[in-house]
Amino acid sequence: MNLIVAVSNDYAIGKDNKLLFNIPSDLAYFKEKTINKVVVMGEKTYFSLPRRPLPKRINIVLSDNINFTDANAIIVRSLDELFKELKKYNSDDIFVCGGASIYNLLMDYCKVAYVTKVNASVPADTYIKNIEKNGFVVKEISPVIKENNLEFTFQTMINKKPKKY
Ligand SMILES: NC(=O)c1ccc[n+]([C@@H]2O[C@H](COP(=O)([O-])OP(=O)(O)OC[C@H]3O[C@@H](n4cnc5c(N)ncnc54)[C@H](OP(=O)(O)O)[C@@H]3O)[C@@H](O)[C@H]2O)c1
Repeated sequence: MNLIVAVSNDYAIGKDNKLLFNIPSDLAYFKEKTINKVVVMGEKTYFSLPRRPLPKRINIVLSDNINFTDANAIIVRSLDELFKELKKYNSDDIFVCGGASIYNLLMDYCKVAYVTKVNASVPADTYIKNIEKNGFVVKEISPVIKENNLEFTFQTMINKKPKKY
């Protein structure tokens, strides 16, 4: 499976259940990578989406809140249940897309991480583990892109020993 995330210099990813940065080309990149694929997210991220479920994608949501149901998404209540569900899909088509609890839970199982690295340090309340210190090496880096007064690169990182699920 894959992971796709936008991070600041200190691996912050969110504040007040919102994204840290408004970068239209990053949203376009996210769409391009995940369209017609399977997206896996936590309940908080699901509820933070402006449009639910993400269209033209199979939305899988991890939640142990039994009151949460949604006919337009696949709700799983545990990691075991998630892995059972994920066996139905080609691993390369699965994208872990947040938030922090889900990235941190599933990072070791991901083979590829698509990381938008924003060269900024901003106030945040949600962080993920350092991807490079968790077995990933950078395979490709885009040129530096400037947008909305921010500088960032798209990086593709590979985990040589992803855990099996
Ligand atoms: N920068 C990016 O690329 C990016 C992408 C996505 C999201 N975000 C940001 O990330 C933040 C949200 O992250 P978050 O970590 O607070 O929330 P989250 O991961 O989106 O969702 C947390 C939810 O998932 C459930 N969950 C987690 N592990 C579970 C498990 N093993 N079994 C069942 N349910 C499980 C939790 O349930 P319980 O707590 O009840 O156990 C909780 O309800 C927001 O600020 C959002 O904007 C950033």
